[in-house]
Amino acid sequence: MYRRITVAIKNKLSLTFAAMTQEEQLKKIVDIIVPNNNMHAKWLNSLSMMENTGARKISKFEHPVYTNIIVLKHAAEEARHAYYLKKQIEKLAPNSCPDYSYPYLLAPIESYHYLHQLDVSACRYIKDKLHLEGREMKHGAYLLVTYAIEVRADMLYGIYQEALSKYASKVNVKSIIAEEEGHLEEMQKMLEVFHPQWEQLAADMCAIEQALFENWIVAIDKVFLAELS
Ligand SMILES: [Fe+2]
Ligand SMILES: [Fe+2]
Repeated sequence: MYRRITVAIKNKLSLTFAAMTQEEQLKKIVDIIVPNNNMHAKWLNSLSMMENTGARKISKFEHPVYTNIIVLKHAAEEARHAYYLKKQIEKLAPNSCPDYSYPYLLAPIESYHYLHQLDVSACRYIKDKLHLEGREMKHGAYLLVTYAIEVRADMLYGIYQEALSKYASKVNVKSIIAEEEGHLEEMQKMLEVFHPQWEQLAADMCAIEQALFENWIVAIDKVFLAELS
């Protein structure tokens, strides 16, 4: 009997969640995470892993000779975000997330998949749409993926910071928000140089990113539903 009721609640919760906008979904997620130190630590560790992956991707993309100060700054700041988020864990649950292995992340498979699939989809899109190959294709994919991630970072860190303030958390991400805003402007300038129809390319890439983000956030929600059983 109890099990049947739990299954019914879970089905209802997952249906309601799927009908929400991504802003509403994220608000619901952070509202559950922030007051729970152990879950919050894993959330921070998951974001740190994604920031670190971003920093490593930028460094990999850098040309060994023709790298400008904007790209260097961007790589340095993404690496700082990974470190900063990791450091915040000490305020909540010290030594709880020593590395980025699965037990220390929320929805680990979807978290890794999100970043990897963004790259794969961007390369395919550039190849089909602009018929670019090799280094040129990689450059275009780098610009579009980074742009879409910066749009997402703006939304995600803004909503997350609201919850941190609401619960008077010891954690804050205000310095990250300021730097992500700068990155978005820089990516826009680089895209303007890359292609005259950059706005259409960026919109298509953001649509691809939205589907992958949906997959990620639904997986995070399932972590909470699993706690109910
Ligand atoms: Fe970042
Ligand atoms: Fe960024």
